[in-house]
Amino acid sequence: MAREFSTVGVVGLGTMGAGIVEVFARNGVDVVAVEISEPALERGRATLTSSTDRAVAKGKLAVADRDALHERVHFEVGLDALRSVDLVIEAVPEHLDLKQRIFAELDRVCRPDAILATNTSSLSVTEISVATSRPNQVIGIHFFNPAPVMKLVEVVRTVVTAPEVVADVEALCARLGKVDVTINDRAGFIANALLFGYLNHAVGMFESHYATREDIDAAMKLGCGLPMGPLALMDLIGLDTAYEILDTMYRRGGRDRRHAPVPLLKQMVTAGLLGRKSGRGFYTYERPGSPKVVPDETTPQTTDAALADGARAITKVGVVGSGTMATGIIEVFAKAGYEVVSVTRGAEKSASVCEAVKTSLNKGVVRGKLAEVDRDAALGRITWTATLDHLADVDLVIEAVVEELSVKKALFASLDEICKPGVVLATTTSSLPVVDVAMATQRPADVVGLHFFNPAPVMPLVEVVRTIRTSPEATATARAVCAALGKTAVVCGDRSGFIVNALLFPYLNDAVKMLEASYSTADDIDHAMKLGCGYPMGPFELLDVVGLDVSLAIQRELYLELREPGFAPAPLLEHLVTAGYLGRKARRGFRDHSHR
Ligand SMILES: NC(=O)c1ccc[n+]([C@@H]2O[C@H](COP(=O)([O-])OP(=O)(O)OC[C@H]3O[C@@H](n4cnc5c(N)ncnc54)[C@H](O)[C@@H]3O)[C@@H](O)[C@H]2O)c1
Repeated sequence: MAREFSTVGVVGLGTMGAGIVEVFARNGVDVVAVEISEPALERGRATLTSSTDRAVAKGKLAVADRDALHERVHFEVGLDALRSVDLVIEAVPEHLDLKQRIFAELDRVCRPDAILATNTSSLSVTEISVATSRPNQVIGIHFFNPAPVMKLVEVVRTVVTAPEVVADVEALCARLGKVDVTINDRAGFIANALLFGYLNHAVGMFESHYATREDIDAAMKLGCGLPMGPLALMDLIGLDTAYEILDTMYRRGGRDRRHAPVPLLKQMVTAGLLGRKSGRGFYTYERPGSPKVVPDETTPQTTDAALADGARAITKVGVVGSGTMATGIIEVFAKAGYEVVSVTRGAEKSASVCEAVKTSLNKGVVRGKLAEVDRDAALGRITWTATLDHLADVDLVIEAVVEELSVKKALFASLDEICKPGVVLATTTSSLPVVDVAMATQRPADVVGLHFFNPAPVMPLVEVVRTIRTSPEATATARAVCAALGKTAVVCGDRSGFIVNALLFPYLNDAVKMLEASYSTADDIDHAMKLGCGYPMGPFELLDVVGLDVSLAIQRELYLELREPGFAPAPLLEHLVTAGYLGRKARRGFRDHSHR
């Protein structure tokens, strides 16, 4: 029989604590909510009130249930109020000495059989536990932000946590409607160990002006389907908390440079820019605690006029290539009203691309998303040819041929000879340096990267890559074209992986390393990222879809260009590729897909 927890205590009512109080009170558990001072207590109460009021306004909580919820919560200053609770969850700032002091005090105040839990994200639960005389009753219960919403709880057992304590806490999580993964005490547990290197990397991109905050966030939301961009997520977590987590992970997690907090973070924390809770972090919010972003001095002007500033007029577009990307791109342009010249290496290839475009457009008609006349008009706008010379009068060329530098360079040299002056020449490469293809022409200022995502007709994002030779007009033209296609363009520098792949693949590689180290299972790691961070797929699901060979190739490129030791491909990934376990396409990757 699992132990009954009828009253729990929560210490610290900040970003996490207030949410944890709500989780318990919503599930019929009495809560003693403790803060360090009256003003802090008031802030905690206000956070709870506004959260439950929002739930009522959204129709997710009945008024009577909200009132009952509030009656279950007793607000007190000081730990003495926790004398008779069954369980305490500590959620004070991420400092080991502070947590140890609080645990020593809780040990003195609380009943001898009470379980003492910490919500720490990165500190050692073991080190916290030894501040008490009952380390076997100390455990990590790591909720995710926002606690009332995110389904995951990481239950962290130390080498001395009693098995029955673990079992009781697991049963409690189930009662709270949460999904738990139980793991050992390691820096960052599952989710943060995989999340924070990525977040820090994104801050580094922002700090080095590689891309704007809006573009970094849009890239990860639209390119990977994440619920929030990394900088908006940093603001939600709180920059002070994020700094402490990174700092601890750096020290505890083998001094991986990727966890060394980017200097800008410390500056922002010192300047009081803590994220949502202080009303300003990477973004500016309506007021402290508000989730609503308001424009500030760095908000870009996104009017069409501003976008078109310096852009060249484009009516006719050439697309070179006959693969998946070329096919999708031809469709996207033709549907958007551009005249399209498709160039392949022969009539047969042209016929098969034409067939593929027709099939895709027909699907749109069947689904009621495209009128028959519009399909016919789109097809009528496409010319099929195997002769590059037919690109003599286009305004924009998009190259989507095989991912080999020598092939692309030769093609760009030919385009340079054939195309009229002023044409924007774009490559869809996802891993080669754009400047290399640009320098194969006499007009590098007109060359940009236009990195579409697969499938191009569906994915809303395009990365516009400008090299150090790209002119502002060529960039403006590329942006304006993306806007006309109904896509979101993000502009970035010419570095391996651009924004999305550079941020995504090291995280996937880290997940493989975690699995390889036997810290957790593929299922639990996938669960943790989906339920703790709201990712649409877990890392192993995604790797199997993308293909392990493709992922390994991208990771190798990143490693070779940046020489970051942490980016070295995981040996397990290399072995699986060698063994032919390439993912869904090979019916086996991290998982067996032979029965599906
Ligand atoms: N922010 C996140 O997204 C997140 C997610 C999961 C876990 N965590 C972890 O939760 C813990 C709390 O983080 P947070 O972001 O909520 O911090 P926070 O700064 O938002 O809140 C901490 C609260 O603790 C209170 N406090 C400080 N000293 C206290 C004391 N002696 N007694 C009682 N209360 C005291 C502060 O007044 C403040 O309200 C940290 O261990 C953090 O790593 C944070």
